[in-house]
Amino acid sequence: MRRPIIAGNWKMNNTASEGYDLVTALKPLVKDAKCDVVVCVPAIDIPSVKKALHGSKIRLGAQNVHFAEKGAYTGEISANMLKEYGVKYVIIGHSERRQYFGETDETVNKRTLAALAAGITPIVCIGETLEERESGKTEDVLGRQIEKDFVGIDDFSKIVIAYEPIWAIGTGRTATAEQANETIGFIRKRMKKVYAGKNVGRMRIQYGGSMNAKNAKELMAMPEIDGGLIGGASLKAPDFAAIVNFDK
Ligand code: PGA
Repeated sequence: MRRPIIAGNWKMNNTASEGYDLVTALKPLVKDAKCDVVVCVPAIDIPSVKKALHGSKIRLGAQNVHFAEKGAYTGEISANMLKEYGVKYVIIGHSERRQYFGETDETVNKRTLAALAAGITPIVCIGETLEERESGKTEDVLGRQIEKDFVGIDDFSKIVIAYEPIWAIGTGRTATAEQANETIGFIRKRMKKVYAGKNVGRMRIQYGGSMNAKNAKELMAMPEIDGGLIGGASLKAPDFAAIVNFDK
């Protein structure tokens, strides 16, 4: 059995003190969660959120990591810098990074390997645009990401994939539970084929894209869906808690 994992992606929201307050409000609301709970926060919020998380089972996550160990990469943050703060998860290759910051399958792969080397669990985002879905290219696009983003990984139980159809992110337009289930099923099947013998069966795959308190239960009831990556609805403690407590 794969343990569900619900992660919040705050994106560029919440100052350090706002993040502290949000997590402080969230803690009691999710203390009986049956799933893994993660908050992926802006890098500069990490110290204050870490303080707020003290004594909680909520795990600390980041939103990006550089692939080099150290060096002349102005503005970047290394896996060891995250690790020293107790960061356990890091989002890699979010569609916003691919779209606005020139992230490629190659850099996604390098960042993923760097996170793994530091013992941080990567949450690697893959997904298709609306145009790609409507022109029947979803499987081609996902197939390409599958082939390129995960080269060199030996044990897939140590990574999480977030399937995020780009047309569903921040749009209020969720994939139907059936659509999400079917596509995640495709991803798992293809991964098992491409990375045979590497523990793909134990890898968790989340759905992401306008997931909220209302649709979480239906999405989480799907056999292929192991969790969610939550943007907008992770910014308010009661909303995020309602998703985490989807089983109650
Ligand atoms: P959303 O974002 O929940 O606001 O659609 C999800 C994501 O981008 O990870």
